[in-house]
Amino acid sequence: MKTEFAERMHALGTETAFEVLAHARRLEAQGRNIIHLEIGEPDFDTPIHITEAAMRALQDGYTHYTPAVGLLEARAAVAEYVSHTRGITATPEQVVLVPGSKNILLFALLSLVNPGDEVIYPDPGYPIYESLARFVGATLRPIRLREENDFRFDLDEFRALLNPRTRLIILNSPHNPCGSVLERSDIEAIAEAVQETDAYVLSDEIYSRIQYEGTPYSILAVPGMQERSILMDGLSKAYAMTGWRLGFGVMNTEIVEKMSKLMINSSSCAAAFTQMAAIAALLGPQNSVDEMVTEFRTRRDLIVHELNQIHGVHARLPKGAFYVLANVAAIDSDAKHLSNLLLEEGGIACLPGTAFGEGGQGYLRFSYANSQEKIREGMRRMKETLARVELAV
Ligand SMILES: Cc1ncc(COP(=O)(O)O)c(C=O)c1O
Repeated sequence: MKTEFAERMHALGTETAFEVLAHARRLEAQGRNIIHLEIGEPDFDTPIHITEAAMRALQDGYTHYTPAVGLLEARAAVAEYVSHTRGITATPEQVVLVPGSKNILLFALLSLVNPGDEVIYPDPGYPIYESLARFVGATLRPIRLREENDFRFDLDEFRALLNPRTRLIILNSPHNPCGSVLERSDIEAIAEAVQETDAYVLSDEIYSRIQYEGTPYSILAVPGMQERSILMDGLSKAYAMTGWRLGFGVMNTEIVEKMSKLMINSSSCAAAFTQMAAIAALLGPQNSVDEMVTEFRTRRDLIVHELNQIHGVHARLPKGAFYVLANVAAIDSDAKHLSNLLLEEGGIACLPGTAFGEGGQGYLRFSYANSQEKIREGMRRMKETLARVELAV
């Protein structure tokens, strides 16, 4: 019998990264050697003091349900961390802990956006923005990020997109997949325009600790913006804790109440011992984050240099996150075709820019969350494959 699914399932998209990873794993099962430059997670181990805190918590009995939005001591740790890193005053009551920051995005859309309301999000951008906005019935308003504008918002285009139906604006800085960063002046201009409307902002700052130049600046720090903004962040990237599933949001207490209801109706709470580990991560020694970022910076310089050596490829130096979006339009106008070819023929896994929206056509995203040795080998294979299959210009 063929299962008939609910209409809403047609609206959901996916993350191509997981599909490419599965394809790469199939090739590996056949004995092929693959260089993984598709995966969006740090290749480092979770710092030991965080793992130890989790083990202690388990032994101390943190094995039960917690309040839906998190243990008060963990919410207090997030409030302290966010206040310190963003230069704002966040209270524990404004914090929601969730099993992965994605939930903050879903809950923000579910609680604020009615069908037909407009949601603005970056294109190229993290594919889950579009997928979930579509899922809640929003009218999609992608804003194109262009290479010639350093993959930042075009402020005139942004102002032109704003209208009385705009309900939510999604910002992401440092940015996946572009590695770009919104300057303080960009954020101030965005805030000024938003303040003329009734819209809310969801600021996805999951890569805020991985910024190589300048100081990260949050829209929550702009006077008047904290009340109408939801900060989305978590432990996944900064502390190499993707598998722990701990994200958090900071928002006004009215929205906290709605997120609490959504947590009660879905996960109940984030895992108790993971919340205790979050306290150790956020308030404990930060040297492992600094060391990881130093290594990422070296890899960034390496991969960008190597990419720019390949005929027909050019790549800008990303300012944050651990991705580089390389322009390959001169080699192949179909990014998906090219990424498939590189995987099948060259054993190098990367993502087509189109996995991040139409604006990604002509680009490939490389994650440099892999060793320098693997990056060198990946780039060598890419050069060799392009020469062999005679696609290169
Ligand atoms: C821009 C962006 N936001 C959010 C997430 C999700 O992170 P989490 O592991 O906290 O759900 C990712 C993960 O790749 C991401 O790239």
